[in-house]
Formats: sequence, structure tokens, C-alpha cells
Amino acid sequence: MTTLHEFPMTRTCPFAPPTAYEEIREKDPITRVGLPDGRQAWVVSRHEDVRTVLNDRRFSADRQHPDFPQLVPGFRRPDDERTMITMDAPDHGPARKAVLGEFTVRRMEALRPRIQEIVDERIDALLAGPRPGDLVEMLSLPVPSLVICEMLGVPYADHGFFQTHTVKLIKRDTPPEERRAAVEAVREYMSDLIAGKEANPPDDLLGRQIVKLREEGTYRRASLAATGFLLLVAGHETTANMISLGTVALLENPDQLALVKDDPGKTLDAVEEMLRYFTIVDAATARLCVEDIEVGGQLIRAGEGVLALGYSANRDPRAFENPDDLDIDRGARHHVAFGFGPHQCLGQNLARMELQIVFDTLFRRVPSLELAASVDDLPFKDDANIYGLYRLPVTW
Ligand code: HEM
Repeated sequence: MTTLHEFPMTRTCPFAPPTAYEEIREKDPITRVGLPDGRQAWVVSRHEDVRTVLNDRRFSADRQHPDFPQLVPGFRRPDDERTMITMDAPDHGPARKAVLGEFTVRRMEALRPRIQEIVDERIDALLAGPRPGDLVEMLSLPVPSLVICEMLGVPYADHGFFQTHTVKLIKRDTPPEERRAAVEAVREYMSDLIAGKEANPPDDLLGRQIVKLREEGTYRRASLAATGFLLLVAGHETTANMISLGTVALLENPDQLALVKDDPGKTLDAVEEMLRYFTIVDAATARLCVEDIEVGGQLIRAGEGVLALGYSANRDPRAFENPDDLDIDRGARHHVAFGFGPHQCLGQNLARMELQIVFDTLFRRVPSLELAASVDDLPFKDDANIYGLYRLPVTW
């Protein structure tokens, strides 16, 4: 009898998935695993099957459902605080569409000059500060936080407050009561902020939503607060981690860094490849099967949970040649680091642009940048549901 793998698994090498992923993908690609709460779920590990699961509405994203496979203890929120990420059809489409217009490529292009300005200011501050400096504190966290704050109309002065709570939400070992209190605190903060915008809605994302939803007759403060919460958290933590990890990856692969330095036109390809290479949101793309369905020859029954392993899919040799190499010329755009199907990341155009501007500017302005610690000593986020770095000492 084979022993059951327990999830979530921890990465042992900072640049590779947990070692068991390959074994699962090659020997038993859709297999049952144990979850922290003692229940079981299927993991789906091949690129094609992961896309099938994430693109089929027979797999529900309803994280509130009692049978949903949870990696950290969940708790029910009132129905009007649900957000798109946990909705299915027919509710999901309209909820996503309500803010989709704020994240189009055109909208993002309009933000480019301001994002460039923010990145330049942060690099000025890094260069004016002590050596070594912490890239996380000086650049990785402030850039996406400042951008999402300005978009939403959230005062950046409050970043200490929401970043502290976000860390609690993302760490796997946060006690359930503390997790609940963190959610409550950010939710209340958002709700008060939105209340203050109601009398005279400003021209920011939250203000525009108030106007639009009122016109449609669907405005609910609690519901907009939940959306604001989702965008605030999803908008800074993910991109911040990719800035830190991408910087380490380029510094550790000087041949790849040289390609980017020689031809900044390649930075976007590098960004795609780094998204694939790290897949920072991995087992969090979970689903609940709501109708019997066969995937990759395996029958999955209604009521069973599924973890669509993005990181395994992104290292599947059937989809990517020499998948463990960092190769910015490979053309990695079919990766699933932003998910796939109806819930595919709403903020992906923003994330791509932020990463492109950061890497272009950082390596142009600080060509002598180097790590000020060995990779083995870096504090990687092995205890979190979104992978990344807590600190990144650099010098120049
Ligand atoms: C959804 C990853 C940046 C907002 C997702 C999903 C993934 C993901 C994997 C799919 C979740 C699922 O299927 O269950 C990432 C990564 C990012 C990033 C790797 C950065 C490198 C952002 C940013 C924002 C954002 C900057 C917003 C400003 C969202 C939202 C959803 C989502 C709202 C839910 C979409 C839906 O349910 O329709 N993201 N994300 N993300 N992301 Fe991102």
C-alpha cells in the first residue's frame, strides 16, 4: 500500500517545487492526499489536467462550502461579504465584470508613468539608505502597495496596519482566532473608509464603484468593502513576492540577467518565465467537485475536493521543455501562475506591468546590485500560502 501524501508540502529548494510533486506527476498524476484537517482531496498535477479543472464549472470555487478542501481553517462570512474569488456562475460573472473595466490593458497603460515614478522614488530611497539594504522593505512591498492604494483610494499611510494583518492571513500557522480577528480588522477598516467616501464619491476605484453600483441599485457597503479587501490584499502581497524572488533568480542566473540588460524588450518574457518558475500561488487554486466528472482518466465524484497544483503544472515537461531551467526565451505564456479559466487573475495586467517596470529600472539604475547574503540564509516564506521572501538583503 502506498502512503498518502500530506498537503500542503514545503519547498525544500527555494527554486523548485516540493520534491514529491514530480513523483506524483509522473507516477500517479491524479491522486488522493491528506489535508491538515484530516480530510482527503485529489491533487491534479499535470498541466493539461490542471487547466481542465480550473476551466470547468463542475468544479466550484465556493470556499465557504463545508466540503471545500481547506489548507488553513476557514470560517463562514455573511453572504453579502462574498467576493468573486469564491463565487460560481451565475454570480461570479457580474461580480467580476463590475471591476473588470478598472484592470484592462488600456487602463494599466494609463498608469504606467505613475508606476514608473513610484519605482524611481523607491530606488532613490534604496540608494540613499544604508548598505546593505532590505529590498523587501525598500522596494518589493512599497511599490505594489502604493500602486494599489492609489488605485483604490486607500491612504498609503495605513500600510503598516494592513500589511501586518495580511501576513497573518497568509501564514499557515496563524491560530484561527487571530486569523478571524485580522479579517475583521481589515474588513472594518475598509467599511469605514468606504463610508467616508459615500457623501461625495471621489474619482478612485472605490468611489467610482459607489457611483456605478448606486446607479444600478445594487450598492451595498459590506459587499464593496469585501471587494476592496480582496483587491488590497491580492494587489500587494503577490506582486511584492514576485519582485523579491525575481530579483534573486536574475542575480543567481547571470546569463539570463545579461539577456535582459542587453535588451530591455525581453523583460516581459523574463517576467512570464519568472511567474512560471516560482508559481507563488500554488495549492491555493483549490476547487470542490459538484458533479461527477472524469479528468485524465480518473473519476472525481461530486462532493470531493481538488487541489489544482499550479506549480506542478508549470514544471510539467509535457508543457515546458527542460522545465527546471530558468529560460526567459522559452515563451512561457501558457503557464498557469495566474490560474486559468473564469477565475484567472483579474490583476494580471497590473502585476505584469509592475514587474516589468521594476526589473527594467532596478537593473538599469543599479547595475552592480548583488545579494548581501547567501541564498541558503535568505528567509523564504516556507510557512505561507503565497511563496516569497520576508527580507532580501542587497548591496551595490
Ligand atoms: C485571482 C495569482 C496579482 C487580484 C488569482 C488567481 C491566481 C492569482 C493564481 C486564481 C485563483 C483561483 O483560481 O482560485 C496572482 C499572482 C499575482 C497576482 C501570481 C502577482 C504576481 C494580482 C493583483 C491583483 C489581483 C495585482 C489586483 C490588484 C486578483 C483577483 C482574483 C485573482 C481579484 C480573483 C479573480 C476571480 O475570482 O475572478 N490571482 N495574482 N492579483 N487575483 Fe491575482
